[in-house]
Amino acid sequence: MKSSPIDGTKASAARIYAHMLGSTDTFAADREAAAVLTSQFPSVRDVCRANRGFLLRTVRTMAEAGIDQFLDIGCGLPVAPNVHEVAREIHPDARVVYVDLDPTVVAHAQATMDQKGVATIAGDLRDPKTILDDPHVRATLDFSRPIGLITVGVMHFVQEDARPLVACLRDALAPGSYFSMTHACSDTMPEEEAAAGMAVYKQTSNPVNLRTRAEITELFDGFELLAPGIVLVADWRPVADDIFPERAPECLAGVGKLPTR
Ligand SMILES: C[S@@+](CC[C@H](N)C(=O)[O-])C[C@H]1O[C@@H](n2cnc3c(N)ncnc32)[C@H](O)[C@@H]1O
Repeated sequence: MKSSPIDGTKASAARIYAHMLGSTDTFAADREAAAVLTSQFPSVRDVCRANRGFLLRTVRTMAEAGIDQFLDIGCGLPVAPNVHEVAREIHPDARVVYVDLDPTVVAHAQATMDQKGVATIAGDLRDPKTILDDPHVRATLDFSRPIGLITVGVMHFVQEDARPLVACLRDALAPGSYFSMTHACSDTMPEEEAAAGMAVYKQTSNPVNLRTRAEITELFDGFELLAPGIVLVADWRPVADDIFPERAPECLAGVGKLPTR
């Protein structure tokens, strides 16, 4: 997929999120959207940080379980430590393909992260087949072995039915693969926050679509959920020395494993 041109006049989810994590790779429109969001939804920074903490913990969990290749869709702007850095603490040759819709992310990630065994491509979660068929994906990842599929902080930007999208990705994975996901949840998020958040993101390139706990749970169909199941992001196997120890009620998270028989 060819990346579209960078539009710095319109805020993007990737840059708002990176701003919340402390990145300066943002435009004025992103910082303004982030300020509006924070004024109406003061815990948004905690949501972003808690989400990132979950991502890093699950990469470590998957790597400790033997996973040495990852497909990270909706990867966001690079923020150290990134997925390949965490995975390579356990598997020094771990392979990672980063995928994002946002041309800022793709340009920045290609400039700073691409190296042997790590690639970044422009891709859209709503078109999983094109991601799976991408030559960089095929050259970097071995689909005959288990892969860690990651869609953290991205599925709530998909307006359409997400079930067939996840099913398409799941069906391409070998038994023993993992699926890590977080999702903004309408059941756990305070109503005023949901309204404020949706209104701000509506003005960006990435409007938000909240799902219920039941709808989020359904996205793990075909996977066996790891303990503790689908929980608030901060409650998924917390660790004492987390660099992102924040708590937030807005997002649910889970990790599933494809049965090996
Ligand atoms: C909140 S950031 C999450 C970044 C990272 N996964 C993390 O959790 O730290 C969401 C990312 O998803 C990307 N995104 C939104 N819709 C997408 C889509 N349909 N396909 C691929 N990426 C998408 C955005 O550009 C943004 O970079």
